[in-house]
Amino acid sequence: MKNKLMTCLASIREKTDFQPEVALILGSGLGDYADGIRIETTVEYSDIEGFPVSTVKGHKGRFVFGYVGEVPVVIMQGRVHYYEGYPMSDVVLPTRLMGLLGAKKLILTNAAGGINENFHPGDFMMLTDHIATGVPSPLIGPNMEDLGPRFPDMSEVYSKRIQNVIRSSAEACGVDLKEGVYVQLTGPAYETPAEVRMCRIWGGDAVGMSTACEAMAARHMGMEIGGISCITNLAAGMSNQKLDHKEVQETADRVSKDFKKLVTKIIETV
Ligand code: HPA
Repeated sequence: MKNKLMTCLASIREKTDFQPEVALILGSGLGDYADGIRIETTVEYSDIEGFPVSTVKGHKGRFVFGYVGEVPVVIMQGRVHYYEGYPMSDVVLPTRLMGLLGAKKLILTNAAGGINENFHPGDFMMLTDHIATGVPSPLIGPNMEDLGPRFPDMSEVYSKRIQNVIRSSAEACGVDLKEGVYVQLTGPAYETPAEVRMCRIWGGDAVGMSTACEAMAARHMGMEIGGISCITNLAAGMSNQKLDHKEVQETADRVSKDFKKLVTKIIETV
């Protein structure tokens, strides 16, 4: 695994010596953000030796290197999901890669189902914590000692400092911001109503199929993390509506302007 990571790193470094400060992972339907920044260069995932390539419709697959304001960033436009069949170590490989490229800070975004009864489709939720119990840990296997310790502390995965940056950025942008705990399950099926009730009893406010594993891998290697969910729908059983990916996309599209404003402000401030 270590070798694979180093092969990918070398492969990127043959193409660019760009030094990002902030890494950004874009969730379902939020990928457009990367097209609007000052792009320095892009690297297609398929051009990186050994890199896991995403298969979901609507997910682009490339790293975008460029600037948000004056801040050098690397953006993952399209992420790799566990439900696609990759081992968890591959799912978090891009995250680790962005860390090794020099990004000390990571902003994670996703589309998620709202579990908290006070949430509405189109809301933004800042992650205060997560529950990753529903997926295998990305840290299982021989520990990569160069990256971090065998038993890493996870008591502040989402940095308190970045949480404050996200709150003040939302206020500055006039964007209403919810807060809560994100639960990651494997997907690809949406949850049953009983599973949604379980997530609520666990203490979750939103549920999705990404993010927590990436946050764990990033925290393991000492990155400072912030997270935002776009609540694209009420979770299963909370309304009469059946869930489908189209609704997720449509809601993400509808709020994409606010999302862009908010993420830009966060990156400029963080
Ligand atoms: N559940 C899981 N993942 C999701 C959902 C959901 O309701 N909405 C968007 N991603």
